[in-house]
Parts: sequence; C-alpha cells; structure tokens
Amino acid sequence: MKALITAGGQGTRLRPITYTINKHLFPIANKPMLFHALEKVAKAGIKDIAININEGDKELPAVVGEGKQFGVKITYIEQKGGPLGLAHIIANAKKWIGREDLLFYLGDNIVAGDLKSLIDKFYREKLDCLLTLSRVRDPERFGVPAIKKGRITAVEEKPQKPKSSFAVTGIYLYRPAILEAVNNIKPSSRGEYEISDAHSYLIKKGYRVGYEEITGWWKDTGKPEDLLEGNGLILSALRQSEIPFKKLESGWRIEGAVEIGRGTKLKGEIVIRGPVVIGSNCLLEDACIDPYTSIGDGVVIKKTEISHSIICEGTQILECGVRIVDSLLGKNSVVKAEDATLPSGHKLVIGDNAQVEL
Ligand code: TTP
Repeated sequence: MKALITAGGQGTRLRPITYTINKHLFPIANKPMLFHALEKVAKAGIKDIAININEGDKELPAVVGEGKQFGVKITYIEQKGGPLGLAHIIANAKKWIGREDLLFYLGDNIVAGDLKSLIDKFYREKLDCLLTLSRVRDPERFGVPAIKKGRITAVEEKPQKPKSSFAVTGIYLYRPAILEAVNNIKPSSRGEYEISDAHSYLIKKGYRVGYEEITGWWKDTGKPEDLLEGNGLILSALRQSEIPFKKLESGWRIEGAVEIGRGTKLKGEIVIRGPVVIGSNCLLEDACIDPYTSIGDGVVIKKTEISHSIICEGTQILECGVRIVDSLLGKNSVVKAEDATLPSGHKLVIGDNAQVEL
C-alpha cells in the first residue's frame, strides 16, 4: 500500500496565517502539522509516500525533505491546474498510484490512535473503499454517510438534513477502483472535483464501501480555533519529560507535562502548568504559561501570562499587563506594552485579514 498525503489548497479560512506559511507547515505542538501525519503513516508501515503540493511550491519540499527522518521515501506531486478538489488530487497522482492500494490522508487532519486497525479491517473485509467516520455535533459541515447493515449506502456533502451524526474524516483507504471513480465525476457547483462524489460513484457501481469509526479524537484544522484545539489534543498526550535545568530556583513552579528545549532560560517568578511545550533558546521572565500552550524556539516572554495559545518562533511578548488567551501569534511578531510617548493608546501594525480583540 502507498500513501498520498495532501498539502496543497489555499487555506483561505486560515488567513492571515496562510499568507506567509502553508498551513501544513504551521506548528502544532512545535512540529509542522504535516509531520504528525507523516509519523502516523510511517508508523503504519507504509514506506512509499507522495505529498500533493500546489504548483510551484518549493518551500514545503525544502522543509519536509526526502523522508529519511521518518524512515520513508517521499515523492512530491504538483497538482496541475490548481487546487481543484480532493478527487482531482487522486486523478492527478494516477501515474504514481499505478495499480497499488492507497491510503489517502488529508494533511490538515489531526487524529489520535494508529492506522493499523483501519488497514487490517480494509483487507479483512475485502473492501474497495474504507471511510473513517467520527461522531460530530455539526455533521452539516462535513461529508455525511448514510449507513445500512454495516455498509455505507450514500455520502452527502454538507447536507442540510444529515442522515447520520457521523462526519467522513480525512483518512481513506482505496483499491484501484478509486481511479475509475475520480475519472468519472464532474465538478460540483463550487467548481471542485468532490471526493464525496467519487465515493457515491463507487457505491452506485456496487463496489464494497465500508467504514470504521475513529473513537479517539479527530480534528480537521480548517479554522484558527481548530489549530488551537488540535494543538491542545496533541499536547494532551505529552508525557512528563526532563527539563534542562540542574535545579528549580525558588519562585519557579513547573507542574504537569512540560517540555522545555535546550538553551531556554527562566528568570524571576515563573509558573508553567502543563501540558505545555517550550522550544529552545527562549527567555521567560516573570511569566505564567498555562495549559495547552506551545511556544516556538527563540521566543521572549516578559511579565505576561499566556494560556491555550500557539506562539511561533522568534516572537516577543513584553510586559503586556494583560492575559493572552486563545491566541495564535506568527513568527517574529512583537506584542508589548505601549511606550510612554504620545499619543497614548493601542498602536497596531497588522496585515490583511488579521483579528485582534482588545
Ligand atoms: P480544504 O480544507 O478542503 O481546503 P483548503 O486547505 O484549501 O482550505 P480553505 O477551505 O480554508 O481554503 O482541504 C483539505 C486538505 O486538502 C488540505 O490538506 C488541503 C488539501 N487540498 C489540496 O491539496 N488540493 C486541493 O485541491 C484542495 C481542495 C485541498
């Protein structure tokens, strides 16, 4: 079995973050999001992996590399014609897929657990397609299956009246019949080749379409709040690890699962309550870092409290005097107390589509 992982698309819902970074490279628990998918696929024993990228994308291959660090071989496939939908990704990768079975994995999905049991079920039940399902509160936002006697009988994309409380998640297993399906569908009203239409084709043609429920958590990280939730889910699995200090100074409180990189310095009064991950060469002075926070390399935080946030590398947060919560700060940003010069007030330099709550 080969694996095809998606890392193209436009990421419009994640603007302004995606103006400067491909969303699949945004750090979740201090690792590019795509690394979580690659680790999962590698752990399932799949060695031959292709990553779908946008035409002309040089940055993602440069960051992710050839796969040695994951023990796999990575091929990059540019999506010719643009990001025309999930079924288009498969049609575009036809040559690379050949006659192999395929794990198709949306690189912006974050899941708990491993993939081995899905693959075992796919082969045990001799399926042509296995969809993974997750119970959600808002199925109308997703592809929703209708299920009868253990088989999927229909899949509707974003239905107004969902036929079940399941969402089809972004992990799919296919026999080569999927290539016939993606070549026999037309673009939807939004101009995309929809993967749900390919699944409906398989069902209509009598192929065996089964499913497996993902019982742990699953997160599709389309929007900024999803990134925070995904970060929290990954951090919730963090184990207590050694911290790079000989002893804790008086005035430092470090509780729960906390990971701190080399060269990071703590000064003054410090409270860190895990799960929290802090990169290398950071400086924290009179700071409180509360659960579900990831702090990248080289970040400086002084006289500020932070909770449930992702702070990317090189950012400085200085003497803010307010608690920063539920926030995403991109690389090399500066957030600081206003200086004493006139005029007084909040002074902002913010790019397009940013969001600020004062
Ligand atoms: P989506 O989240 O459906 O699309 P998007 O990432 O472009 O985001 P937005 O809707 O905010 O503009 O994509 C799901 C996954 O598939 C994600 O990993 C991006 C990837 N993708 C491609 O690689 N090519 C495509 O043509 C599309 C539509 C998505």
